[in-house]
Amino acid sequence: MSIILHVDSSVRAVSNANPEHDSISKKLAKLFINQLIKKIEIDEYIYRDVGSNPPHFITQEWIGAVFTPEAKRDRQQLQTLALSDELIAEVERADLIVMSAPMYNYGMPAQLKAWFDQVIRINKTFDFDLARGEKPLAPLLSGKTLVIITSSGEFGFEKGGVNESSGHLVPHLRTLSKYLGVADIYEIASEYQEFADHRHEQSLQNAKSKATALASKLAIILQGNTAHTSDL
Ligand SMILES: Cc1cc2nc3c(=O)[nH]c(=O)nc-3n(C[C@H](O)[C@H](O)[C@H](O)COP(=O)(O)O)c2cc1C
Repeated sequence: MSIILHVDSSVRAVSNANPEHDSISKKLAKLFINQLIKKIEIDEYIYRDVGSNPPHFITQEWIGAVFTPEAKRDRQQLQTLALSDELIAEVERADLIVMSAPMYNYGMPAQLKAWFDQVIRINKTFDFDLARGEKPLAPLLSGKTLVIITSSGEFGFEKGGVNESSGHLVPHLRTLSKYLGVADIYEIASEYQEFADHRHEQSLQNAKSKATALASKLAIILQGNTAHTSDL
């Protein structure tokens, strides 16, 4: 089984009348997925563009519903959690999560954070037990692969880079990925968009090459998993 959940989060569309306005992160994610589906058969492809269709922010009522035992939730509370249930079900089904994210104000877009707030939910994607000591939270999902595809205007957010201390996008996604049940993470980054010079061109080219190479690599891994499952 290969089920892909693809979450895009730029507010820019993948293609526009003026191509200079196209989302780089969405385009890279599209390239990666197109390369992957050329190589393996996908059982299901789930797409969320939270940049253009953001999940609503959680509310006090949402927290109240989450902490109400499932059997005791009233109709209003079930309604309040309906979107969260739907988004979590998509994460649960996926073997591979492809998440594209622009850097906004050195972190993820608010729309993507809203998605995480709906998805990372007690007794659904993690549980909490004080008996675990200083780290009481534990994920309930496991075994998923995450591909993080980012685009930024500046550069050098990686370990040792000139802007490492301002790079809160990938580190935050890595921290949260634990609660999506992610075991393996791959990264593709395009930088220098705001400089609009040869460094951006080079960075974008590198990101495209990496997306193509990663699609080949993951096709083999996912196919291996499928063969293994059908052998059982
Ligand atoms: C609201 C906003 C905030 C941004 N903040 C940053 C930032 O903090 N650091 C940075 O390197 N680039 C920043 N940028 C530039 C974007 O990361 C860059 O344009 C990127 O290519 C956007 O992704 P997209 O092409 O997929 O839409 C920002 C852009 C916008 C619109």
